[in-house]
Parts: sequence; C-alpha cells; structure tokens
Amino acid sequence: MEEIGIGLIGTGFMGKAHAFAYRTVKTFFGDVPAPRLAVLCDQPLDKARLMADQFGFSKATDDWRALIDDPAVDIVCITTPNKLHSEIALAALAAGKHVHCEKPMALTLEDATTMAEAARTFGGKTIVGYNYIANPAFQHARKLIADGVIGRPVHFRGFVDEDYQADPETPWNWRATKGDAGLGALGDIGCHLVSMMTGLMGPVARITGDIDIIHKTRPLADGSGHKPVENEDIASALVRFESGVSGVISSSRSAWGRKNYLAFEVHATHGMIRFDQERLNELQIFVNTGDSARDGFTTVLTGPAHEPYGALCPAQGHQLGFNELKTIEVHGFLKAIAEGGRAFPDFDHALEFERVVHAIACSSETGKSVFLKPALPES
Ligand SMILES: NC(=O)c1ccc[n+]([C@@H]2O[C@H](COP(=O)([O-])OP(=O)(O)OC[C@H]3O[C@@H](n4cnc5c(N)ncnc54)[C@H](O)[C@@H]3O)[C@@H](O)[C@H]2O)c1
Repeated sequence: MEEIGIGLIGTGFMGKAHAFAYRTVKTFFGDVPAPRLAVLCDQPLDKARLMADQFGFSKATDDWRALIDDPAVDIVCITTPNKLHSEIALAALAAGKHVHCEKPMALTLEDATTMAEAARTFGGKTIVGYNYIANPAFQHARKLIADGVIGRPVHFRGFVDEDYQADPETPWNWRATKGDAGLGALGDIGCHLVSMMTGLMGPVARITGDIDIIHKTRPLADGSGHKPVENEDIASALVRFESGVSGVISSSRSAWGRKNYLAFEVHATHGMIRFDQERLNELQIFVNTGDSARDGFTTVLTGPAHEPYGALCPAQGHQLGFNELKTIEVHGFLKAIAEGGRAFPDFDHALEFERVVHAIACSSETGKSVFLKPALPES
C-alpha cells in the first residue's frame, strides 16, 4: 500500500493536530504508506472550504456521512465534540473504514462498548487519541520500571490539572453538559492520566472515587443569565491495581496556574520516577545508592536513545512538542494498517481506560468502591 486516503471531521484544536500529524508522518517515518489528505468536513461549508485549503485537503464538505461514503477515504479521523464520536465511528466502521477517534470514545460507557464491538465485527483498524502515551519519555519510564531500575513499584501518584474552568466567570459551554460532553474533568483529562497509569502499573482491580462540581453555574456568553454545570470539575480516587499495589490520583479542570500538569510518580523499592507533561522532554529518576550525601534526582532529557525521538529529531535535548506526539500516534496507526496487528490504544484498549474513569464517577455517586472485572486478554 503506497498511499492511504484521510478524511478529517472537525478542524479545531485536535483537527489541526491530526492534519499536522498525517501531513508530516511520512517525512519523519519512511516505513508507512503516504497519507493522501482526501476530504475535510466541518460546518458551515465555507469554514470547511477554508480549512481544506489551509490544511491541504483536496475536497471539503459539511456532511460527515458524505465524507465516510467517499471512496477516496480509507481512514476517518473524528475530531469533533464528544457527542458525535460514537455515531460517526459506528457509521465509518460499518462502511469498512479505519477510524482514528479522539478521546473520550463516547459520552457513556455503553456507547464506548458498542464502538469496540463494532470494531471487532467490521474489522476496521482503530486508534483513540491518547497521545501522551506516545511520548518517548513515557515509554522510557515504562522500560526503566520493567527493567527493575527503581526496584519493585510499591505506589503510584498521579495528577492531571488544568485551569481552563478555574475562573467562575468563564462562560457556560458544551463541556458543562452531560448530553454534549459526558463526564467533566474525568472524560476530558482524567482519562489521559488513566492511560498513563495503567501503562505503568497494569490494570485496576478496585477504585474508590469522589467527584465535585466547584462552580455550580456559569454565566451565558450573551449575558442573559446563568446555566447549571452538570459534570465534575474535580475528581479524586484511591486505586488498587491487580498487582496488589495501591495508588492515588486526582484531576481538576479548575486548578489555577496549571496548564497541563499531567504528572505521575512511581514509587518503588529502590527509587522513584517522576514525570510532568509541562516538561514533556524530561524524566526525573532517583535511584538509592545508599550515600545520602550524594543521592538526588537525575533529570534525563530525551533524545535519540529514547525511541522514536530520533526519527523526529537527531539531537538530544532539542525537544519534541505536543503535535509530534500526535505524529508518533499516527505512525503506530499506519503501521498497524499496513502490516497488520493492533494499534495501541485501539477501541478495546481505550475502553479499558474509560471503564476506569466511569468507575470513579460511579463510585462517587454510590459511595461504594467499584471492583473492575479483569481486563480483556491481549490478542
Ligand atoms: N488528545 C488530546 O490531547 C485532546 C486534546 C483536546 C481535545 N481532544 C478531544 O478532541 C475532540 C475535539 O476537541 P477540540 O478541542 O478539537 O474541539 P474544538 O471545538 O476546537 O473543535 C471541534 C471541531 O468540530 C467541528 N464540528 C462540530 N460539529 C460538527 C459536525 N456536525 N460536523 C463537522 N464538524 C463539526 C467544529 O466546527 C470544530 O471545528 C474532543 O473530543 C476532545 O475531547 C483531545
């Protein structure tokens, strides 16, 4: 397969990231089919035409069904608001297309489960936009832990904080409703933390959650009053992994000063690894040497020794950015399509992440811990 046709639905923050990734992936990684930017969809049509020109797509439409039906499209990228993900993904899979869907998969766990079932039924390849796990720094942390460099993990601490809803005067928008967004901080950013946490610590066995809405109403943009906020600004949880190890995680979209504090610490018997997405090219490693006068954290700057950094940049410490993580994600997807096998995370993997965030909300509602069934076996 020399070329593969891309259909992109939505041209906001993530639409631009997908367009960048599919445009550049072949430049950085030679071992995949060349993406052909075939059809772009947004509304209204004038906007779609403008963005198709800017992003380099051959055709523009305001009808995502027409995009799916277009024979020039092999991969459907879904970068619309959350409420459209499920309907578009199901239609694309039924039409025999591959699907690159942004997170969260759907508003509800039921819809996400249906999407995963459809992927298995129709056989299209899928991937969900958990781009932070594509970071070479994160993959290196996984390797160090697997190699036993810090000993046996004994505890996990994780945060994901931003301040985009910290100001009580920020106008009400679709992200505040269960009908348009689904979960709040959990579905928007907490799921990213879960994707990293489970990658480092393995599946979750039990979770006890507590969620809260800080700003109960928000002003309407036109000044005509206030509307209620329906989903959580803050979520916290105590975690017990299948390995028996414990953890604690916390997420807020109302944490002043935090811009993308997606951070973790893995505490282990001989040391600790810590990471913070606001410094995404760094990993901090402490290994106990027994000499407390000289012990301390080492800051490792990622470089070509941390794959696949070298494919994007030949020089250590020169640093990758957010959009390049999306390019690494796209590379993995195109490899799975061209060579067979599963992309990571496909709909089944992502469903496991999303089961955890929904379990936190469910636990908070019922006041009881949620015991998660063992994860699906790898295949
Ligand atoms: N992976 C990440 O790190 C990350 C980061 C931000 C957002 N996201 C996810 O990406 C998705 C989009 O978020 P965003 O921040 O890009 O939103 P956005 O508001 O910036 O963009 C949404 C786009 O979808 C378009 N759209 C809406 N309805 C449409 C329709 N019926 N047909 C065609 N186009 C339509 C809008 O016009 C807009 O261009 C969300 O699901 C969000 O959770 C993921």
